[in-house]
Amino acid sequence: MTFADPDGGDDEKELALAAWAEAGIAGRIVRWDDPEADWAAFDAVVVRSAWDYVDRRAEFLDWARRVESVTRLLNPAAVLERNTDKTYLRDLKAPAIPTYWVGPGEEADFPVLDEYVVKPTVSAGARDTIRTGDRGEAGAHAARLVAEGRTAMIQPYLDMVETEGETSLLYFGGRFSHAIRRNPMLAGNATGPGRGNGHGELRTPGGDQLALAEQVLAEFPDVLYARVDLVRLPDGSPVLIELELTEPYLFLRYAPEAAANLARALGAAL
Ligand SMILES: Nc1ncnc2c1ncn2[C@@H]1O[C@H](COP(=O)(O)OP(=O)(O)O)[C@@H](O)[C@H]1O
Ligand SMILES: [Mg+2]
Repeated sequence: MTFADPDGGDDEKELALAAWAEAGIAGRIVRWDDPEADWAAFDAVVVRSAWDYVDRRAEFLDWARRVESVTRLLNPAAVLERNTDKTYLRDLKAPAIPTYWVGPGEEADFPVLDEYVVKPTVSAGARDTIRTGDRGEAGAHAARLVAEGRTAMIQPYLDMVETEGETSLLYFGGRFSHAIRRNPMLAGNATGPGRGNGHGELRTPGGDQLALAEQVLAEFPDVLYARVDLVRLPDGSPVLIELELTEPYLFLRYAPEAAANLARALGAAL
């Protein structure tokens, strides 16, 4: 079990460890970048709040491959590699939010929209992400990201995140556990981008959302944990905005059975 910051940030670790203990699984918290860690000594290593990988992606993926060569890594290194760059949204069979991609050396080519969201493909917690009604500003932010050698994504701002809200569906061992209504992170009344974690409320997902989440996860059969983040287009159809298979906040305290569901899935995987 690895955390970027064993003392702060992640408020789910005690809950997870307690549920694992209840299921007969002895867990320990170890920083992923702890040079002293003996990964081979564990039956499995479960990636959790490694929220600092964003600036150190290559190092993080090297670490994942190294750990996987000596023990079981959950989720697997190949999944982490694919999932830490949002270009996966382009390659999935399931419907995803409309996105205009701007790669290194490319000019931004995108239509006139009411409002734009511009974000890098490698990010978390809405970092380096802007919302604007100004097309020039959207293009300039994309150009800035591209100048840094990053790939930019330009999307329509979907204001349903402020009404119905984004829905996150949590799956452990391929089974649905619980779903959360997320608070908007780019809304005018928010204090600004932040992880927005620990904020939301339990929600019963619609049948169309469950069906889409399961369609997405059918492409990832061997993951221990998954968070499928869905929004709706103006026509009401659900689409994927983000698939979190790396270091999702799991909203364990929002549903009484959530931590036990995770423990059961981990027990089955071991
Ligand atoms: N196109 C969009 N329309 C409305 N809100 C968005 C859009 N893109 C991102 N957001 C807001 O920003 C948050 C973070 O964006 P997301 O794509 O999930 O990336 P990450 O969580 O990796 O930073 C979302 O949860 C949502 O609140
Ligand atoms: Mg997100």
